[in-house]
Amino acid sequence: MATKRGNRYVLGAVLVISTFAFWHISSSGAGTSTPKQSSQRSSFGLWPSGMKSHSSQSSSTGNVDANTFINLDSKVIPETEYVQGVAGFSYFKNLYLQNGTFLAITSNPSSIPEVARIMSAHPTDDNKYPPAGQDRWKVLTIGQDDLSGLGGVAVRKDGVSMFFNDEKGLKSVSFLKHYFHFIGEVFLGAWRVLTTAGEMELPTRLMYRTTPDDWRDRAALTSWFQQSVMPNTAVEESPIWEDRMKSGMTFLFDKITISDRWAAHQKGIDPWRFNKMTADLLFLESPLDWMNPLRLSMKKLVQIKGTCSVYRKKSDVPIVLYINRQLTNRRLLKEDAESLELELNNLQNQGIIEFVNAQMETLSRVDQFCLALKADIIIGVHGNGLSHALWMKPGSAVLEIMFPGGFARDYATVAELMRHDYYAIHNDTVFTPDKWLKPDGWGVPAIHGFHSDYIPVNGKWLAGLIKQIAQDKKSMVEP
Ligand SMILES: *[C@@H]1O[C@H](CO)[C@@H](O)[C@H](O)[C@H]1NC(C)=O
Ligand SMILES: *[C@@H]1O[C@H](CO)[C@@H](O)[C@H](O)[C@H]1NC(C)=O
Repeated sequence: MATKRGNRYVLGAVLVISTFAFWHISSSGAGTSTPKQSSQRSSFGLWPSGMKSHSSQSSSTGNVDANTFINLDSKVIPETEYVQGVAGFSYFKNLYLQNGTFLAITSNPSSIPEVARIMSAHPTDDNKYPPAGQDRWKVLTIGQDDLSGLGGVAVRKDGVSMFFNDEKGLKSVSFLKHYFHFIGEVFLGAWRVLTTAGEMELPTRLMYRTTPDDWRDRAALTSWFQQSVMPNTAVEESPIWEDRMKSGMTFLFDKITISDRWAAHQKGIDPWRFNKMTADLLFLESPLDWMNPLRLSMKKLVQIKGTCSVYRKKSDVPIVLYINRQLTNRRLLKEDAESLELELNNLQNQGIIEFVNAQMETLSRVDQFCLALKADIIIGVHGNGLSHALWMKPGSAVLEIMFPGGFARDYATVAELMRHDYYAIHNDTVFTPDKWLKPDGWGVPAIHGFHSDYIPVNGKWLAGLIKQIAQDKKSMVEP
């Protein structure tokens, strides 16, 4: 599959964990819509339909069909195929699992990438993440390795599975305990790799290796998203993982992605420089509408609730969503914030933009996502609210205000993956890649003041830029 190495943005190893610390979400507002996904394989169809309607259990095959159980002693068994990926995000077809060990079974072992790019071991006590050992990952060669230990039968797990290898060690955390680490990292990467391989089906199951308490975010946004936007996706965690080990059975995953944070950081190119596990995903070509299945589900959900329209008030007036962080610690200078609001209100009065000034933490989840879905332009100080750029139409604009002189490539990556226009704003200038990208491939780090409550912005100048961008987005109407 073609890879692209354009736009190689580089930044020093900025520690970004703290940047995700402010995501205060108010009460839940989950709607009731359940977008229908194509159902599993139907039953055999051995019986005339008249009989089926009053069939007893014994005459029904439920959702288990003839392909569910695979005879591993037969001459031909499904071979593992590495379909697509970058370090830390791998997509396989026909990957086996037995006693907690993933098995790539193939007659062409050289087609399987080295383990260090796929999966890491349990973190060591001194907080290191070596590549997975034979207890987690094995490549077996057909015609050479003995497959009799597999027990003769494999149980197929159909549909698309996503496996997240993150877990905590003695002195480490899993790094999943935040919505962005799920939606913007381990999940996003898996979804991206699937879509670059032409898959657009929402996953049948999400598989965590880690324990239930280790991945849920305090705001419960990750589980809200999983349960509401992907209503037909099962979420599994360590107890199920252990059940499969204890069963003594071999399993065959039709289609499975493996997300591994440490494989990305250690074997990736840009993830290492930017401390961003998703950075190399930009090298994979994806369809423009790769987020569409998720976006459409989100859109149906928010529209049913009905308190927010996803459409412009006037079809030729673009919507500017200002993610107002003035109630949080990382924020604009008070007078600059006031001036920015004034200028944007002026643009609205002149009929140039529809201005939405949102303190996201005061809105229900459904309403927050509704605003994100309809925005043509998002502006905000560096912070988690900018991850909402994932829900905008591709080709929208993202303006991220940062403390002058510093840079962090977090939401820039999200914006690039979405093919939005991205602007890093330093007070009264656009901080373009040629300014933050150093000749050695690294970048300008965040500096003192980056996380402060005195971030400057010239409102008049910024409104001028927004006016230009709005002109450009006029015809980009939500279908
Ligand atoms: C299953 O895996 C565990 C942990 O890796 C190991 O201790 C055990 O011996 C394995 N059981 C079998 C039957 O291979
Ligand atoms: C921001 O820019 C304005 C001029 O556009 C300037 O007067 C002001 O000093 C700048 N603030 C900082 C902190 O650089």
